[in-house]
Amino acid sequence: MKTEPGTFRRLLLTGAAGALGRGLRVGLAAHCRVLRVSDIAPLGDAAANEEVQRCELDDRAAMHALLQDVDAVVHFGGVATEAAFDALLPANISGVFNLFEAARRQGVRRVVLASSNHAVGAYEQAQPLHALVPPRPDTLYGATKVWAETLAQLYWDRHGIETVSLRIGSATPEPQDRRALATWISPGDLLRLVLAALSAPAVGHRIVYGMSASARPIWDPAPGSAIGYQARDSSEPWRAAIEAADPEPDPMSPLLRWHGGDYMRLGPFD
Ligand SMILES: NC(=O)c1ccc[n+]([C@@H]2O[C@H](COP(=O)([O-])OP(=O)(O)OC[C@H]3O[C@@H](n4cnc5c(N)ncnc54)[C@H](O)[C@@H]3O)[C@@H](O)[C@H]2O)c1
Repeated sequence: MKTEPGTFRRLLLTGAAGALGRGLRVGLAAHCRVLRVSDIAPLGDAAANEEVQRCELDDRAAMHALLQDVDAVVHFGGVATEAAFDALLPANISGVFNLFEAARRQGVRRVVLASSNHAVGAYEQAQPLHALVPPRPDTLYGATKVWAETLAQLYWDRHGIETVSLRIGSATPEPQDRRALATWISPGDLLRLVLAALSAPAVGHRIVYGMSASARPIWDPAPGSAIGYQARDSSEPWRAAIEAADPEPDPMSPLLRWHGGDYMRLGPFD
């Protein structure tokens, strides 16, 4: 994995004001000469090797300007949970189209896409998942991630733009519940995964599950290994406390039945 300082000339990070973007903003800065950070939310002042560019993902012209002269894009902007369709549409549907279309026009060769496990959340956990299972979203939000993965495939097949679609699990500082013992990804591992996705040679379009190590994984780690990602963190130190807090879990509860957990209960919004 190429992680030497300044490996990339200019990287773009969208969603840089978000929960995950704030951590990646710090971590990625060491690996590029210039980090262009973007969001609609306030981003603060630019650090020494940063360019700050506010941008609405739904604004096609602004997106074309945003992707000008960048080597690769780490796309973490968007609506990050279930919502009404009209709330998802600008960022997660139009915005992702604008991103790939701008990449095509600006000659950007690599995208690292924040997809989600909710693209396949309606599978039961009794069936461990590899990356090539057909999509089976648990929500409209999950369906927007299927749309994003589909566009990534299209722009590889038609325009040679490489994308690693990261089906991120539960990206929180610590695992929160029994499901997260399998789905958690630590902040450090998320950065390592993004760097691997940026640096791996000849990825085409591929889907990689994003999780730290677990004694009982439910997602195939092989696609991550294939791009050079190795988790350094594990949920196991939290297992005893999480299991003690919920000693007799119902295996048919949404949290433990479905890959997407409680997302199977979210919506509709009428
Ligand atoms: N946090 C997780 O556990 C998790 C799990 C799976 C996938 N993801 C994905 O990772 C990405 C980041 O998640 P997060 O937890 O940091 O979410 P977040 O909501 O904290 O950050 C998302 C950022 O996107 C920005 N944004 C939203 N709409 C926009 C628009 N129209 N134009 C420009 N910017 C816009 C927001 O201002 C926000 O700063 C999302 O794509 C999310 O779906 C997160």
